Amino acid sequence: MEHLLELRNVSIDLPKGKRKPPVKLVEGVDLSIRKKQNFGVVGESGCGKSITCSAIMGLLSYPLTIGAGSSIRFQREDGSEVEITSLPKSELRKLRGKDISMIFQEPMTALDPMYTIGEQINETLRFHTSLTKAEMYDTALEMLKKVKIPRPEQILADYPHHLSGGMLQRVMIAIALINNPRLLIADEPTTALDVTIQAQILDLMNELRESYDTSVIMITHDLGVIAETCEEVAVFYAGQVVEQASVDVIFHETAHPYTTGLLRSVTSLGGERKELYTIRGTVPTAGNFSAGCRFADRCEHCMEICKKAPPALTEVAPGHLCRCWLHAGEAEQADKEAAV
Ligand SMILES: Nc1ncnc2c1ncn2[C@@H]1O[C@H](COP(=O)(O)OP(=O)(O)O)[C@@H](O)[C@H]1O
Ligand code: SF4
Ligand SMILES: [Mg+2]
Repeated sequence: MEHLLELRNVSIDLPKGKRKPPVKLVEGVDLSIRKKQNFGVVGESGCGKSITCSAIMGLLSYPLTIGAGSSIRFQREDGSEVEITSLPKSELRKLRGKDISMIFQEPMTALDPMYTIGEQINETLRFHTSLTKAEMYDTALEMLKKVKIPRPEQILADYPHHLSGGMLQRVMIAIALINNPRLLIADEPTTALDVTIQAQILDLMNELRESYDTSVIMITHDLGVIAETCEEVAVFYAGQVVEQASVDVIFHETAHPYTTGLLRSVTSLGGERKELYTIRGTVPTAGNFSAGCRFADRCEHCMEICKKAPPALTEVAPGHLCRCWLHAGEAEQADKEAAV
């Protein structure tokens, strides 16, 4: 296996009872993450970013299930591969917090208000290492210093509600990195923070990445965050990847009208202030997708064919994928037009 993580044809089902087929919240997602790569996943709220990550963690919440034919393969440190979709729960638990860890938008929901920060860091260490109590204390202290928390001794003895949002997110990053994971999934880690703190946390993550061999999946609705942190990006819309390329290509050779809309809604890029723009309409919910392109009713370039036939994800240039009739191969387009 060439990559650290490979998703192939991943779908996530919402069951609708025995007699009805499930609703596909996510459909046909293929992603490959290399070692030490910083990979971005971007899209508006409701596009399926978080549940895709839950699937990678083996943590889909009831009643969601992984769709038939989905594959999520992960390469362990010893080079062995595991298929996450069929891994027993006990094995998944060993993987989480050690090989794969995650930080969330709301650190408060991930931390237990009844335990001190020190106790919660120790919990992660105890489960995955055989360090003594004294060694755990030293490791925790060291880690809090790495995430630049002032007065780390004091913070170890504090409860979560004593800390500000920015400090809590630093604690979460410390817990996520303490076992030196191979993959860190960051789901909107700065969305709940104000702009200054947001910039500090992104700087910190960029800095830490230099000293860890960790690959990062950065999930966000904000292409500005992607520009600051990632090399490669997949744009999600209504449960599918609609465009994927290097960050440079996404910004300068944008192919999909949805990505163009997202780019126009970024408030400031490289210091240049832009007028606030929102894409008209809203993301359709699963079960209400149009028969053609899922973006059709919001798209300024919508053509007849877009309403009737779903465009396929095709390579428009080497390494640049796009799901849009504007960029479909000529032969494919002629074929479909003849059929509709
Ligand atoms: N447990 C669940 N039951 C039913 N629908 C869900 C559940 N979790 C998520 N969804 C739906 O799946 C879609 C994708 O959700 P999510 O991955 O959270 O989006 P994003 O992270 O991109 O904002 C949304 O329409 C959401 O309502
Ligand atoms: S396929 Fe058509 S409707 Fe969909 S994004 Fe492309 S141009 Fe717009
Ligand atoms: Mg989300």
